[in-house]
Amino acid sequence: MVESTGGNSIAIDELPVIDVNAAYAPEADFNAIVMAAHENGPFAQSSRGFEVLGYKECMALMRDPRLHSDHMSLVNAMGFPEGPAMEFKKAMLLSHGRDEYRTKIRQALTRAVGASVIEKQRPMIRTLVGDILNDLSQASESDLLHKFAFGVPSSLFCLWFGAPLEDAPWIAGLSDRILKIFSFDRQYTPGIISAYDELFPYVQKRIDDALESPKDNLLAHFIAENKAGHLTDTELFHIVAMFNEASTDNTAHGIATAIGELLGNRQRWQQLIDQPELIPAAINENMRLSGRINTLIRYASQDIEYGGVEIPEGTGISFFIPAAHRDPRVFSLPLEYDPTRTDAHNLLDFGGGVYTCLGKHVAMIEIQEALAELISNYPNAQVTNFDISSNPFVNEVAELKVDLVGAST
Ligand code: HEM
Repeated sequence: MVESTGGNSIAIDELPVIDVNAAYAPEADFNAIVMAAHENGPFAQSSRGFEVLGYKECMALMRDPRLHSDHMSLVNAMGFPEGPAMEFKKAMLLSHGRDEYRTKIRQALTRAVGASVIEKQRPMIRTLVGDILNDLSQASESDLLHKFAFGVPSSLFCLWFGAPLEDAPWIAGLSDRILKIFSFDRQYTPGIISAYDELFPYVQKRIDDALESPKDNLLAHFIAENKAGHLTDTELFHIVAMFNEASTDNTAHGIATAIGELLGNRQRWQQLIDQPELIPAAINENMRLSGRINTLIRYASQDIEYGGVEIPEGTGISFFIPAAHRDPRVFSLPLEYDPTRTDAHNLLDFGGGVYTCLGKHVAMIEIQEALAELISNYPNAQVTNFDISSNPFVNEVAELKVDLVGAST
């Protein structure tokens, strides 16, 4: 058992072992493996190296200025060839440490989609969600993954950046291909590169069109920042491209997971029909137990000691998020779904510190509005097929089929 405070420091290879890959094996009892690991303390070692299992420890280390993120090591591990995609990756926000560029771009994005700004867009998002739902056929099996969960964020991207709504499925497909980078699986690299090759001219066309015939949308906001000298032309281009990769895929899986898990459980769904005010808490609680991100990685920028563990410079630190979300030191009855729990805490799915997700507010609004519209329009809907595939890095909804009219027929 490792003490998280005080005492003599120990090396990472003296920590208890957790087999993260085994936890994701098809027949594995994930909860049992994670809860057993918690009994040995908030830290562990695995074939990946240093694992942080404790919620408070994840929170603190994600904010620790002695650690940094390193998106380029993922890009290199995926074997990106030299070319436009590589150049974009080198320059984009994710690849910047704590520098002026990071501060500048984060401030620009916060002005555009920060909590208070984006809350004003909730009515527009509600209308968009309602329109997409109305357009769905009420056939016995609706493909809510592609038609609804991916439809919402990709349509929002179209509205924000002045693209025709018919482009939404294509936008969603691009984002899906690009975010395969988080699979850590090189078989996806050619698909990622070709997605960027399609995305870049499309982004340029959006900007050119907006300059020629301006609309009142998010792109106009960024163009105004560009004209005011707050963003260079390249930064403007990068921001639009980054919105494609960042805003669609993760949100789509968030919407699909919330529907699959909450609609898929009659008791949970009925509770939300009876008490719709619980929707935001239910989404958070469901995300705690079944989120999108399973591991975030940071690196030690120097030799550090934390919680009694020596962490040499360069060490990769894996924040094992579903473990932290089940930390019995923080959540009472951690395996139980309880949207009324009084010990709810900020979720780790959106990262933390200077790298925190800038789209978390809009993502949560989209998920909340998607669920609220579904509940009020189709309270009797029934899940006919819901499948999530999981690996140590992400959970991906593979299928979400729903009988919208359901039990009322
Ligand atoms: C459920 C949906 C989403 C999830 C789970 C998610 C998750 C994440 C995570 C884990 C990070 C890295 C945080 C870190 O390393 O500490 C991140 C970064 C980021 N996300 Fe999201 N995200 C979501 C939706 C969005 C949306 C809708 C947008 C844009 C509108 C967005 C924009 C960004 C940006 C720009 C960054 C880079 C932040 C930086 O490097 O400073 N995300 N997101």
